[in-house]
Amino acid sequence: MTMKIIMDTDPGIDDAAALTMAINDPEIDLKLITAVAGNVTVDKTTANALKIVHFFGKDQEIPVAAGAKEPLIKPFEDAARIHGASGMEGYDFGDDYGEPIAKSAVEALHDAIMAEDEVILVPTGSYTNIALLFKQYPEVKSHIKEIVAMGGSISGGNMTSIAEFNVFTDPDAAEIMYKSGVPIVTVGLDVTLKALITPDTLNQLKDMNETGKMLYGLINNYNDVTEAGHPMHDVNTIFYLLHPEAYQTKDLWVDIQTSGPAIGGMVADIRGAYHDGKTNAKVCVDIDAAAFNQWFLDEVSHMK
Ligand code: BDR
Ligand code: CA
Repeated sequence: MTMKIIMDTDPGIDDAAALTMAINDPEIDLKLITAVAGNVTVDKTTANALKIVHFFGKDQEIPVAAGAKEPLIKPFEDAARIHGASGMEGYDFGDDYGEPIAKSAVEALHDAIMAEDEVILVPTGSYTNIALLFKQYPEVKSHIKEIVAMGGSISGGNMTSIAEFNVFTDPDAAEIMYKSGVPIVTVGLDVTLKALITPDTLNQLKDMNETGKMLYGLINNYNDVTEAGHPMHDVNTIFYLLHPEAYQTKDLWVDIQTSGPAIGGMVADIRGAYHDGKTNAKVCVDIDAAAFNQWFLDEVSHMK
């Protein structure tokens, strides 16, 4: 049976790779894509989502809705230094990639979630659209099987020493999501910094097929990189859905810091000392990184 998922995203080069996997894997039924401001402005993230959908000829099957232009409270700061001015530099998708649907992201999320019983929500940007959805339509919560969210970290940040970009972008939205009561899998920097596209994997993509060429162009222009490779943060959500056995997890209570110098930080109650032993997240703490790399190549080799 296929998994019904909705992706809420801010493409973004690693978001583009995550969308590529979700659109093409036969075990995944991608019902809707909603865009949010994050890596770049929401007009650009919406256009970028449309470009990926159009690249795979899925314009009629997978709707794209535009969402929040800015975080709930905190001023918006983009990550164009990492993903380029458009958010998806490095490949020419052309100018003809269609339009978002007329519904807002919140309305589209509401309608798509209420139409299903077991939908999985996959956020790979900040959680602004999801927080707005939960405030306006709390009834959707019981229709969501789980949220598999890229973001956060319990072992150090990439924006401050403790804050990760997606949570840092809209910590107030993250707090609402983590207090929602919906089961959450946290796919944070604890694992995503280990899930690298190595230089060797990148070279193999180059001449693999059209999709490999597209991903090679994007990843080559992705400024999140060390000598060991490019971390494919957002792709981990899809790898987790398909191969949870590749991850080690811990059930924990996590709190989000919404003010002060620790803003955007995620604090895990690792001793179960502050929440009567209750937990609100399954936090991914380790990954079989070699399996991730091999899976990435195998997936792309079956694409156009
Ligand atoms: C997250 O930040 C964004 O730049 C990436 O797309 C990813 O979702 C990693 O911290
Ligand atoms: Ca992202």
